[in-house]
Amino acid sequence: MRMVTIFLSGALSVAAYADDLEKMTAEGATLIPSFQQHLMDTVKSAMQAGGPVNAVEACQLLAPQIADQHSQTPWVVGRTALKVRNPDNAPDAWEKQVLEQFVKRAAAGEALSSLAHSEIVKGEFRMMKAIPTGEACLGCHGKEIKPELAAVIDQRYPQDKARGFALGELRGAFTLRRIIKTAND
Ligand code: HEC
Repeated sequence: MRMVTIFLSGALSVAAYADDLEKMTAEGATLIPSFQQHLMDTVKSAMQAGGPVNAVEACQLLAPQIADQHSQTPWVVGRTALKVRNPDNAPDAWEKQVLEQFVKRAAAGEALSSLAHSEIVKGEFRMMKAIPTGEACLGCHGKEIKPELAAVIDQRYPQDKARGFALGELRGAFTLRRIIKTAND
Protein backbone atom coordinates (compact mmCIF):
# COMPACT_ATOMS: atom_id res chain seq x y z
CA MET A 1 0.00 0.00 0.00
CA ARG A 2 2.77 2.37 0.91
CA MET A 3 4.54 1.63 -2.36
CA VAL A 4 1.34 2.38 -4.26
CA THR A 5 0.91 5.71 -2.46
CA ILE A 6 4.45 6.72 -3.20
CA PHE A 7 4.05 5.68 -6.78
CA LEU A 8 0.77 7.57 -7.14
CA SER A 9 1.99 10.79 -5.56
CA GLY A 10 5.06 10.59 -7.77
CA ALA A 11 2.91 10.20 -10.84
CA LEU A 12 0.64 13.03 -9.72
CA SER A 13 3.47 15.44 -9.14
CA VAL A 14 4.92 14.62 -12.56
CA ALA A 15 1.49 15.36 -14.05
CA ALA A 16 1.19 18.60 -12.02
CA TYR A 17 4.67 19.61 -13.13
CA ALA A 18 3.80 19.07 -16.78
CA ASP A 19 0.55 20.97 -16.30
CA ASP A 20 2.28 23.94 -14.60
CA LEU A 21 4.97 23.99 -17.24
CA GLU A 22 2.37 24.10 -19.97
CA LYS A 23 0.39 26.89 -18.27
CA MET A 24 3.43 29.04 -17.61
CA THR A 25 4.75 28.46 -21.14
CA ALA A 26 1.41 29.62 -22.55
CA GLU A 27 1.35 32.67 -20.28
CA GLY A 28 4.97 33.55 -21.08
CA ALA A 29 4.30 33.21 -24.81
CA THR A 30 1.62 35.93 -24.58
CA LEU A 31 4.21 38.44 -23.31
CA ILE A 32 6.59 38.09 -26.26
CA PRO A 33 4.64 39.64 -29.21
CA SER A 34 4.02 43.00 -27.52
CA PHE A 35 7.64 43.19 -26.33
CA GLN A 36 8.87 42.36 -29.83
CA GLN A 37 6.46 44.82 -31.46
CA HIS A 38 7.47 47.61 -29.10
CA LEU A 39 11.16 47.08 -29.95
CA MET A 40 10.47 47.00 -33.69
CA ASP A 41 8.26 50.11 -33.61
CA THR A 42 10.92 51.97 -31.64
CA VAL A 43 13.69 51.11 -34.12
CA LYS A 44 11.45 51.92 -37.07
CA SER A 45 10.35 55.32 -35.84
CA ALA A 46 13.88 56.27 -34.75
CA MET A 47 15.08 55.24 -38.21
CA GLN A 48 12.43 57.38 -39.91
CA ALA A 49 13.12 60.33 -37.63
CA GLY A 50 16.90 60.40 -37.92
CA GLY A 51 18.30 57.47 -39.88
CA PRO A 52 20.22 54.40 -38.70
CA VAL A 53 22.72 56.25 -36.51
CA ASN A 54 19.82 57.75 -34.57
CA ALA A 55 18.19 54.32 -34.40
CA VAL A 56 21.32 52.79 -32.80
CA GLU A 57 21.31 55.56 -30.21
CA ALA A 58 17.60 55.05 -29.56
CA CYS A 59 18.16 51.29 -29.21
CA GLN A 60 20.92 51.78 -26.67
CA LEU A 61 18.81 54.15 -24.63
CA LEU A 62 15.43 52.47 -24.98
CA ALA A 63 15.92 48.70 -25.38
CA PRO A 64 16.65 48.15 -21.66
CA GLN A 65 13.71 50.41 -20.69
CA ILE A 66 11.37 48.56 -23.03
CA ALA A 67 12.41 45.25 -21.46
CA ASP A 68 11.68 46.69 -18.00
CA GLN A 69 8.30 47.97 -19.13
CA HIS A 70 7.30 44.53 -20.39
CA SER A 71 8.51 42.79 -17.25
CA GLN A 72 5.26 42.61 -15.34
CA THR A 73 5.64 41.02 -11.92
CA PRO A 74 6.29 38.10 -11.52
CA TRP A 75 7.76 38.00 -15.04
CA VAL A 76 11.11 39.32 -16.21
CA VAL A 77 11.62 39.51 -19.99
CA GLY A 78 14.76 40.21 -21.97
CA ARG A 79 16.84 39.24 -24.97
CA THR A 80 20.08 37.36 -25.20
CA ALA A 81 22.34 35.76 -27.83
CA LEU A 82 25.54 33.78 -28.23
CA LYS A 83 27.04 36.89 -29.87
CA VAL A 84 25.84 40.04 -28.12
CA ARG A 85 26.05 43.71 -28.88
CA ASN A 86 25.42 44.85 -25.32
CA PRO A 87 27.42 42.80 -22.77
CA ASP A 88 24.50 43.25 -20.32
CA ASN A 89 22.57 40.86 -22.58
CA ALA A 90 25.17 38.07 -22.36
CA PRO A 91 23.63 34.67 -21.63
CA ASP A 92 24.02 32.93 -18.28
CA ALA A 93 25.03 29.26 -18.23
CA TRP A 94 21.47 27.98 -18.69
CA GLU A 95 20.69 30.43 -21.52
CA LYS A 96 23.95 29.62 -23.30
CA GLN A 97 23.19 25.93 -23.26
CA VAL A 98 19.65 26.53 -24.60
CA LEU A 99 21.02 28.77 -27.39
CA GLU A 100 23.51 26.06 -28.32
CA GLN A 101 20.67 23.57 -28.38
CA PHE A 102 18.72 25.92 -30.72
CA VAL A 103 21.70 26.03 -33.10
CA LYS A 104 21.77 22.22 -33.17
CA ARG A 105 18.01 21.91 -33.61
CA ALA A 106 18.08 24.45 -36.46
CA ALA A 107 20.95 22.56 -38.12
CA ALA A 108 18.84 19.41 -37.85
CA GLY A 109 16.10 21.11 -39.84
CA GLU A 110 13.72 22.66 -37.29
CA ALA A 111 12.29 26.04 -38.32
CA LEU A 112 13.72 28.90 -36.25
CA SER A 113 10.28 30.44 -35.95
CA SER A 114 9.10 27.51 -33.85
CA LEU A 115 12.20 26.95 -31.71
CA ALA A 116 11.41 27.39 -28.04
CA HIS A 117 12.31 25.76 -24.75
CA SER A 118 10.92 25.97 -21.23
CA GLU A 119 12.06 24.39 -18.02
CA ILE A 120 11.96 24.79 -14.25
CA VAL A 121 15.45 25.71 -13.07
CA LYS A 122 16.26 26.17 -9.38
CA GLY A 123 12.75 27.17 -8.32
CA GLU A 124 12.24 29.45 -11.31
CA PHE A 125 10.28 28.93 -14.47
CA ARG A 126 12.43 29.88 -17.46
CA MET A 127 11.69 29.94 -21.15
CA MET A 128 13.38 31.03 -24.36
CA LYS A 129 12.15 31.61 -27.89
CA ALA A 130 14.48 31.88 -30.89
CA ILE A 131 14.80 35.17 -32.81
CA PRO A 132 15.64 34.74 -36.50
CA THR A 133 17.65 37.36 -38.41
CA GLY A 134 15.20 39.15 -40.70
CA GLU A 135 15.80 41.50 -43.62
CA ALA A 136 15.24 44.53 -41.36
CA CYS A 137 18.04 43.44 -39.03
CA LEU A 138 20.86 43.21 -41.59
CA GLY A 139 21.63 46.94 -41.71
CA CYS A 140 22.77 46.77 -38.07
CA HIS A 141 23.64 43.07 -37.58
CA GLY A 142 24.58 41.92 -41.10
CA LYS A 143 27.83 41.49 -42.99
CA GLU A 144 27.81 44.86 -44.74
CA ILE A 145 27.17 47.57 -42.18
CA LYS A 146 27.56 51.07 -43.64
CA PRO A 147 30.85 52.61 -42.44
CA GLU A 148 29.14 55.59 -40.78
CA LEU A 149 26.87 53.25 -38.83
CA ALA A 150 29.67 50.79 -38.00
CA ALA A 151 31.63 53.72 -36.53
CA VAL A 152 28.76 54.62 -34.18
CA ILE A 153 28.29 50.97 -33.16
CA ASP A 154 32.06 50.67 -32.48
CA GLN A 155 31.96 53.78 -30.39
CA ARG A 156 28.89 52.84 -28.35
CA TYR A 157 29.55 49.10 -28.15
CA PRO A 158 33.31 48.59 -28.19
CA GLN A 159 32.82 44.88 -27.43
CA ASP A 160 30.18 44.32 -30.14
CA LYS A 161 29.97 40.76 -31.46
CA ALA A 162 26.49 41.00 -32.97
CA ARG A 163 27.40 41.54 -36.62
CA GLY A 164 28.10 39.33 -39.59
CA PHE A 165 24.70 37.61 -39.43
CA ALA A 166 22.99 36.25 -42.57
CA LEU A 167 19.31 36.31 -43.39
CA GLY A 168 17.50 33.47 -41.62
CA GLU A 169 20.32 32.75 -39.19
CA LEU A 170 19.66 32.51 -35.43
CA ARG A 171 20.23 36.03 -34.09
CA GLY A 172 19.37 35.32 -30.45
CA ALA A 173 16.38 34.62 -28.26
CA PHE A 174 13.79 36.14 -26.04
CA THR A 175 14.40 35.01 -22.50
CA LEU A 176 11.76 35.00 -19.79
CA ARG A 177 11.83 34.03 -16.14
CA ARG A 178 9.26 33.84 -13.42
CA ILE A 179 9.59 33.00 -9.75
CA ILE A 180 7.34 30.09 -8.87
CA LYS A 181 5.17 30.65 -5.85
CA THR A 182 5.30 27.88 -3.29
CA ALA A 183 2.39 26.86 -1.03
CA ASN A 184 3.94 28.98 1.72
CA ASP A 185 3.91 32.26 -0.21
C1 HEC B 1 19.25 50.47 -35.97
C2 HEC B 1 20.09 49.32 -35.76
C3 HEC B 1 19.46 48.01 -35.36
C4 HEC B 1 18.54 47.29 -36.06
C5 HEC B 1 17.87 47.64 -37.38
C6 HEC B 1 18.34 46.07 -35.32
N1 HEC B 1 19.11 46.06 -34.18
FE1 HEC B 1 19.25 44.58 -32.82
N2 HEC B 1 20.40 45.73 -31.65
C7 HEC B 1 20.83 47.00 -31.97
C8 HEC B 1 21.49 47.59 -30.82
C9 HEC B 1 22.10 48.98 -30.74
C10 HEC B 1 21.42 46.63 -29.79
C11 HEC B 1 21.91 46.74 -28.36
C12 HEC B 1 20.74 47.18 -27.47
C13 HEC B 1 21.11 47.31 -26.01
O1 HEC B 1 22.00 48.10 -25.70
O2 HEC B 1 20.46 46.60 -25.20
C14 HEC B 1 20.71 45.48 -30.35
C15 HEC B 1 20.48 44.31 -29.64
C16 HEC B 1 19.81 43.23 -30.14
C17 HEC B 1 19.57 42.00 -29.41
C18 HEC B 1 19.94 41.72 -27.95
C19 HEC B 1 21.20 40.96 -27.79
C20 HEC B 1 22.44 41.79 -28.03
O3 HEC B 1 23.09 41.54 -29.06
O4 HEC B 1 22.77 42.69 -27.22
C21 HEC B 1 18.91 41.16 -30.25
C22 HEC B 1 18.46 39.74 -29.95
C23 HEC B 1 18.70 41.89 -31.48
N3 HEC B 1 19.28 43.14 -31.39
C24 HEC B 1 18.03 41.39 -32.57
C25 HEC B 1 17.65 42.16 -33.65
C26 HEC B 1 16.75 41.69 -34.69
C27 HEC B 1 16.15 40.30 -34.76
C28 HEC B 1 16.57 42.72 -35.56
C29 HEC B 1 15.69 42.77 -36.78
C30 HEC B 1 14.29 42.49 -36.57
C31 HEC B 1 17.38 43.84 -35.08
N4 HEC B 1 18.01 43.44 -33.91
C32 HEC B 1 17.50 45.06 -35.71
C33 HEC B 1 20.68 47.63 -33.18
C34 HEC B 1 19.79 47.24 -34.17
